[in-house]
This record gives sequence, structure tokens and C-alpha cells, in this order.
Amino acid sequence: MAGRQREISVSEFFTKNRHLLGFDNPSKALLTTVKEAVDNSFDACEEAGILPEITISIHEISETRYRVVVEDNGPGIVRAQIPKVFGQLLYGSKFHRLRQSRGQQGIGISAAGMYGQLTTGKPIIIRSRTGPKRPTHHFEIQIDTRRNQPTVIRDEVVQWDAAHGTRVELEIEATYKKGRHSVDGYIEMTALANPHATLTYHSPKGEVSRHERSTTVLPREPKEIKPHPHGIELGMLMRMLKDTKARNVQSFLTGEFSRVSPKVAGEILTAAKIGPSTSPGRVHRDAAEALYKAIGSVKIMAPPTNCLSPIGQESILASLEKQVAADFTTAVTRPPAVYRGNPFQVEAGLAYGGSLPADELAELVRFANRVPLLYQQSACAITRSVHSTSWRSYGIQQSRGALPTAPLLIMVHIASAWVPFTSESKEAIAGYPEIVKEIKLALQECGRRLGTHVRRGARQRAADLKRSYIEKYIPHIGIALREILQLSDRQEGKVVETLRDTLERSRKI
Ligand SMILES: Nc1ncnc2c1ncn2[C@@H]1O[C@H](COP(=O)(O)OP(=O)(O)OP(=O)(O)O)[C@@H](O)[C@H]1O
Ligand SMILES: [Mg+2]
Repeated sequence: MAGRQREISVSEFFTKNRHLLGFDNPSKALLTTVKEAVDNSFDACEEAGILPEITISIHEISETRYRVVVEDNGPGIVRAQIPKVFGQLLYGSKFHRLRQSRGQQGIGISAAGMYGQLTTGKPIIIRSRTGPKRPTHHFEIQIDTRRNQPTVIRDEVVQWDAAHGTRVELEIEATYKKGRHSVDGYIEMTALANPHATLTYHSPKGEVSRHERSTTVLPREPKEIKPHPHGIELGMLMRMLKDTKARNVQSFLTGEFSRVSPKVAGEILTAAKIGPSTSPGRVHRDAAEALYKAIGSVKIMAPPTNCLSPIGQESILASLEKQVAADFTTAVTRPPAVYRGNPFQVEAGLAYGGSLPADELAELVRFANRVPLLYQQSACAITRSVHSTSWRSYGIQQSRGALPTAPLLIMVHIASAWVPFTSESKEAIAGYPEIVKEIKLALQECGRRLGTHVRRGARQRAADLKRSYIEKYIPHIGIALREILQLSDRQEGKVVETLRDTLERSRKI
């Protein structure tokens, strides 16, 4: 046995378990590849304060092979970083910080590159430039999966007309389908949640669609925060104690966590029976556990929420109105809340009536940090929250534990510095009770407004029906009155006209 034991590299692991990363079937692989590249482009542009301009092109090479090209006007990537970014799994700038972004793991684009390499043998091709006075670097990179290290096949300087930005090209085994769960649907939904971006999409069938930005205001820049003590687990606390540069536990607590003032640190240390000047390195297992328990017992202010950047009610409304021809739209942005020490914020929007299909299940669109979630709908906390909301009280039909049946589009967005996805493929959100509660509150508020609209509509329809009956009888009433009162034609005409006028006026009440 001992002879067969050996280390497994993270890339070997994910080669075998690529379903964990969203590459479990060819049509999903196409979407995941596009999504990873587009997520990164958005993150890079927003971090650099640039209004995103992203072009997505998919070329069909054969029915099972596609070339995906994603180009952005972002800040570009410095030459030395390019091989690791695209040729090493778990390498990135976002994992070690608590800040709201689309990417968080450092796997995304290198996993897409690895999938391409595995299925077509082609390297990932990158072109990147950091400014108009800087050279454009062209790289072709493969991953040495055994060592999880990049192998650079080509590294040269080329001409490029873009002033700055990054272009990623991959060839992958995939299939292309139209519809909601496809790249087409993803692009539409991405435009819905990112009104500050301009997206151009060249589909494999040669169609070109362009989504112009509807605002030139960038989303509020999310701030990076330190972890909140109530969100920490014992193992992590022990590792932080080992890694810290702080001289004593007092400054460790105040320096490495958010919302720990010297007073709060003092309370924690008293409860844990640890002297404030103890060196963090000397806080071993039992003492660490006492510290962990003490943290849990002390009241600490909720984490700061300036690390969050919601879409905002107005932007959601504007996007819904632009994308859906509905009779009624509404949106709600909830105040920030906290799960396991992580701040998060929920938003919901509804579009009702108009061109939306009646007598069908409502359409639910889910977003996490502005990224549409297209798969694993039933495993997602958002879906469960929609199912368990009682839509009937808002005048909408619903079977138990299902989506409501109505001409309705439901949009839910969760923004967080750390979104609790159920797996690395980032498709569904874990059902933390705090999150479910917030989603339901947002839906209920939207639902109540929808209910008022639906009931007003129902009243209006009933009144219209009555009016149409009365209208039908007006001429007959004229004839009857003429006979009873022996009116002239002119008088009868006047009576009929007065009745019609009265009926018409009732419409405006
Ligand atoms: N288009 C781009 N422009 C600038 N920087 C980029 C671009 N694409 C990737 N990067 C950099 O490369 C890093 C690695 O990207 P990758 O997609 O592998 O991981 P991630 O985005 O950090 O996390 P996730 O796995 O959740 O997507 C990013 O953290 C970012 O710093
Ligand atoms: Mg990424």
C-alpha cells in the first residue's frame, strides 16, 4: 500500500471531478466557460473603476466543438501574473479577502482552460495589455495537471488596437442550445443585473445582439472587510493565531477582526481567562478553544456593511422595464443582514402581466453578486423561499410548494462578501435560515404591492363587465322611455346621450 500512496494535485482532483466545477455536460460546459471569463471581466473592470464593455463571441467549429472568445476593456493583467492566472488552479486575487466580487475561489478561468485542454488538446490563448503605452502580451498556456503548474507554449509581444484590456480564447468540446438555460439566456440575464455594462454577443449561428448600458454610474465600490469574530470556526481561529504578526492576543483580536474594540477584546480575554499580553503563538489548543467560546459569549456589534454593493431598487426597476413588457413592476432592496458573521443583502423584483405568459409557472431568475444562476434551481435557497411564500394572499395562484402560476417574472439577488454556494460550480445558494428569512421578507414586500395591483385590476374588470351590460341596454331604455313618456326622436337621443355620458364618467371614478 505504502508504495502506492502519493500526493494528488488539485488539478488532477478537478480533472476527475469536473462536475464540481460546472463541466458535467457539453452544453453546460459552454455556458460555464463563458460565465467564468465574463465574471472575471466584470470584476476586473469594476475594481479598476472602468465601465465594462465586454464582447462575447462563440464560433462553431463542429457540432461538438466551439471556440469561445471573451474580450474586455478592463485594466489588463501584468505579464508576470498571466501564466499563473490561467494555468494554475486555486490562484487568484479574491480568495483571501472579504469583498463582494463575482469570483471568489481562484479556480474559474483556469478550470475552463483545463477543460479545453482535456477535451480538445488546445491551449488557452490570452492577450492582455495594461495601458496604451504598454506592450500587448500574447500567451498560449497549458496546465501541467500533475503539478498544477502552467506550461507556457508561446509568450510574445503583438500589436493590438485596444488601449487596455484582456482577451481570452478557448477551444472546448461543447454543444450549443438556444433557450433560457443557454448562453443566450445568460447574456440577457447578465444585462438585466448589470445595467452599467455594454455587452455584445456573437452567437454561434452568426446573430449579433448588443445590450447597451442604461446607466453610466458604476456600482458602489464594495469595501474589503475583516472577518467578523462570530463567523469564525475554531480551526480557522487556530490558524489565524499561528499566522498572525500581532505581538499579543489583545492586538490580534483588535487588528484581525472587524468590530473588536479594545473594550470588546478585553471582555473576550477576561471570559477566556487569557492575559492580554500573551503571545498569540502561545495560545494552544485548550486556550484557543476557551478563546473561541469566549468570542461566542460576548456581544459584538454586527459587521460593517459597506462591503456590499446591491443593484438598487431604481436600477432593478429600470432593467425590468427595459427587458420585459409588463403591466406592473416593483422592486425591493432589503437592509443588510448577517449569516455566520458574513454580511449579505437581498433584493427582489417582480414583473407582472403584459407580454408575460399567463397560465404558466412564473419565471424565477436568481442572481448572486450580479451573476445569473442558471442551474440547480431546485437545490437553491432562493427557489425554496419563493415556493414557501404564500402567493395566494396576493391574489396569485399557487400549488403547494411550487412556483406561482401567473404571468410573473420573479428576480432575486443576493449580494455578499462571501456567497455560500452549495458547490464550487457556484450554481445554488445554501439555505442558511437568515438568508431564507431575508429573501422571504423581500418577496413579501413585493408581493403585497403586487396584490394591490392585482386586486385593483380585479375590481376594474368587474366594473368594466357591469358597464358593458349597461351599455348594451341603453338603447332599449331609450326606446322604452320614448314609449312611456311619448318623447320625440330628439328627446330620446338626448336621454340616451345623457345615460352614455354618465356611464363614461363612472369610468374615471
Ligand atoms: N479579464 C481579467 N482581467 C484582469 N484580471 C483577471 C482577468 N481574468 C482573471 N483575472 C485575475 O485572475 C485571477 C484568477 O481568476 P479565476 O477566474 O481563476 O479566479 P477568481 O475569479 O479569483 O475566482 P473564481 O474561481 O470564483 O472565479 C482573478 O482573481 C483576477 O485577479
Ligand atoms: Mg473568476
